Amino acid sequence: MQISFVSPSVAGPGALVFGVSEGAVLAGRAAEADRLSGGALTRAISVSRFSGKPGQMIEVVAPSGLEASRLLIAGQGKAEKFDAHRAERLAGSAVGKLFTSGERRITFAVDAPPGAQIGGAALAAHLAMGARLRSYTFNRYRTKDREEHEPTVNEIAIATTQVAAAKRSFVPMEAVADGVFLARDLVNEPPNMLSPADFARRAKSLTKLGVRVSVLGEAEMKKLNMGALLGVGQGSERESQLVVMQWNGARRAETAPIALVGKGVCFDSGGLSLKTGVGMMGMKGDMGGAAAVAGTIQALAARKARVNAVGIVGLVENMPDGNAQRPDDVVTSMSGQTIEVLNTDAEGRLVLADALWYAQSQFKPKCVIDLATLTGAILIALGHEHAGLFSNDDTLAERITEAGRTEGEHVWRLPLGSSYDKAIKSKIADMKNIGGPTAGSITAAQFLQRFVSKTQWAHLDIAGVAWQDGEHKELSPSWATGWGVRILNRLIANHYEK
Ligand code: BES
Ligand code: MN
Ligand code: ZN
Repeated sequence: MQISFVSPSVAGPGALVFGVSEGAVLAGRAAEADRLSGGALTRAISVSRFSGKPGQMIEVVAPSGLEASRLLIAGQGKAEKFDAHRAERLAGSAVGKLFTSGERRITFAVDAPPGAQIGGAALAAHLAMGARLRSYTFNRYRTKDREEHEPTVNEIAIATTQVAAAKRSFVPMEAVADGVFLARDLVNEPPNMLSPADFARRAKSLTKLGVRVSVLGEAEMKKLNMGALLGVGQGSERESQLVVMQWNGARRAETAPIALVGKGVCFDSGGLSLKTGVGMMGMKGDMGGAAAVAGTIQALAARKARVNAVGIVGLVENMPDGNAQRPDDVVTSMSGQTIEVLNTDAEGRLVLADALWYAQSQFKPKCVIDLATLTGAILIALGHEHAGLFSNDDTLAERITEAGRTEGEHVWRLPLGSSYDKAIKSKIADMKNIGGPTAGSITAAQFLQRFVSKTQWAHLDIAGVAWQDGEHKELSPSWATGWGVRILNRLIANHYEK
């Protein structure tokens, strides 16, 4: 699908999308379309419960007086609250409504209401971003009813007076959207089709963008004494992998990188501490952290970010088998610390223990941020609205929170502390891999912190936000959301690019 920026007009074929803010009368290009159509929009509003609230839309099909086959009025909300988020969600909702409607072309003619927080080129670029993010599809396994799922729209135009500036602002945003799409593709892919080696192969294709990608197999990880990660994968027929993706875009080549570490459990059955049938559904998405890391590295490379970043993902499959890890096993991590594995379903922290240690010892990064669908408990605490944030550094935590606000990927900080750390004391080893019955997300984070030396570190527990069951979100039509790419990219753009 093509997105372009064109000069403003209410002419042209296909669907035209206008905005109306809450309590306001039709203005700007919406008023012009209303006039040309002999008042069709005014009449449509007068017979509908439309007040201009965000999310509300009315459609007028086949209006007379205009070349357009359809007019869509979308609520912009209160004029003074109309901002980048509202613009993106408006465009996303409109694309959601029209994408498979039979229309081939959508033109956005959305004006900024008086007093709005956004306008001009920025408004145009964010409309394009919202449209792009919503246009994602994952239909590769459908052989029937393709018609109803296949998009008919293949062209989206944003009509703006600032074509050149809008185009310029959209270039890096489009790179980010592509990174989000990569993350969604990886998470949506079924686990029989995406093994650790398959994921590694896909990561390899980032070399096209100038990313240096290396893959360690089990033999190499054994040499590095990654007993924690390897223990998780030992019940699987498929080989565990550690993938390292390096993007060196900083002006000074020797600048210490920022390290992004991802949990990449391609399928989490729980292992011998087997999950229930219901609990296992969706566990193809247990590599959502790794997917976000790969998507972010892709975005950074595609927009040639002036930063050195390294993405490290630990890829395993957690399966029960004659050779599977047992509850009660003790493993030795790369750091030398021993871990009593009391529950094989608390496997993500074992994978991250070695991936985090490798990241720090190999790259001496400025800071390390890990992303993981780590605990069911974070869903109980925060639901689907916020990811859990844990950090040993207040500045880093604030920067991440702020980046999340900017991008609409929200995080909520939770505490760390030595009293929680006591919960993972083991009777026979340096630690155990589960805490008590309470504060499960925090004790998991405490476990990770034991594998962080003096480096600035943040951990994002994304178990509640990496995928969504039920309703589609304005910007995220598929099961996989691609959560993490936008917030990490924003953090880096704001604070680590020079
Ligand atoms: N991958 C799961 C966490 C998860 C659960 C993600 C539900 C998304 C939805 C993780 O490996 C896990 O199984 N965690 C256990 C830890 C427990 C055994 C200490 C959990 O949360 O139940
Ligand atoms: Mn698990
Ligand atoms: Zn898991």
